[in-house]
Amino acid sequence: MEKLHISCDGGDYDILIAPEHPEEALALPGGKLLVCDSNVAKLHRAWAEKLTAPADTFVFPAGEKAKNADTLLAICRRAAQLKLDRGATFVALGGGVTGDLTGFAAAIYLRGVEVMQIPTTLLAMVDSSVGGKTAIDIPEGKNLVGAFHQPCRVVIEPRLLATLPKRELGNGLAEVVKTAVLGDAQLFELLESNARRLFDAPLPEDLYAEIILRCCRVKSAVVAADAHEHGCRAFLNYGHTFGHALELLSGFRLAHGEGVAIGMVLAAKLAVRLGVCEAELAARQLELLRALGLPTLVPAGIDPRACLDAMRGDKKARNGRVVLILPEAIGKVRAVGDVPPEIIADFLREVFA
Ligand SMILES: NC(=O)c1ccc[n+]([C@@H]2O[C@H](COP(=O)([O-])OP(=O)(O)OC[C@H]3O[C@@H](n4cnc5c(N)ncnc54)[C@H](O)[C@@H]3O)[C@@H](O)[C@H]2O)c1
Ligand SMILES: [Zn+2]
Repeated sequence: MEKLHISCDGGDYDILIAPEHPEEALALPGGKLLVCDSNVAKLHRAWAEKLTAPADTFVFPAGEKAKNADTLLAICRRAAQLKLDRGATFVALGGGVTGDLTGFAAAIYLRGVEVMQIPTTLLAMVDSSVGGKTAIDIPEGKNLVGAFHQPCRVVIEPRLLATLPKRELGNGLAEVVKTAVLGDAQLFELLESNARRLFDAPLPEDLYAEIILRCCRVKSAVVAADAHEHGCRAFLNYGHTFGHALELLSGFRLAHGEGVAIGMVLAAKLAVRLGVCEAELAARQLELLRALGLPTLVPAGIDPRACLDAMRGDKKARNGRVVLILPEAIGKVRAVGDVPPEIIADFLREVFA
């Protein structure tokens, strides 16, 4: 078992990875409401119910579509019907959708109860379950309504990944590469030397445990330094400014991690162009992403102008100014907010051709 302790503004909690005694790791006082989506309910609900003994389990239809105000309020109403009080804990068993929804419900039910995260996708294990960001989508955009609400505990069981579809595993691996480039050169090497094993059956659980530990370490260090996203937390956005725009313009045919993979390729190319990093970095990253089976080319039919507009409209742009996270070396990135839009536009025209 590995244990990480997080101390940040708004939270003080443990991340337990592959605990030897899951029944102890998952035991918490007070009434519990377990929340999971319909896919996870079929696969892992019985295990989680046995270990957490919830008052009830709330199951919602799997998919990003359910990450909305209706589901959010339905979770709160179920808690109220169960008469759960301020000492209650909501337990999020699932991917980022479940974690974001349940975390937000916990932030607002009775003005705040605890939430425990039990992530079941690689993306949730290495990214969304740690850091306390919670949100729902509204018709005007994704994640536009939410709150910072740190979990009281995160319990990660890498063996739950065995049931995850390959494409979802790939999505998570894109975030792992992101984390390696922004803060852990050794993790990058670990991925390079094990890329082919990562999709093996049975899944190499120990290798995943090591990867998850390293990612949580980087993410928690960044969050501890900047829980409310005023400064270096933006580094976690490496590959995401290009990636979000491509996801959107592909009509969401590109999954999030796939957009991020192509986004990292573009960010590294631009960094080489601007003299921020060596060409070798971009080449190594490209090779790793390919070895992991992730897309690295902008899909045909996406207009570079529309891409720049989408980047300027991104939630994280400030006054329409795009802040780009560019790699300096493997393990080190820099935020650059002063790249003139014309330079980005020329670059996009070239790489999209
Ligand atoms: N809060 C944050 O900091 C943060 C960070 C990154 C992403 N996010 C959010 O996370 C969401 C994406 O997360 P995701 O990719 O985990 O999506 P998801 O929760 O929809 O899970 C992806 C799919 O995998 C299925 N699944 C989950 N665990 C499984 C398992 N063990 N076996 C088989 N199937 C399983 C789900 O039912 C779903 O169909 C987005 O809404 C995004 O905005 C939040
Ligand atoms: Zn992401």
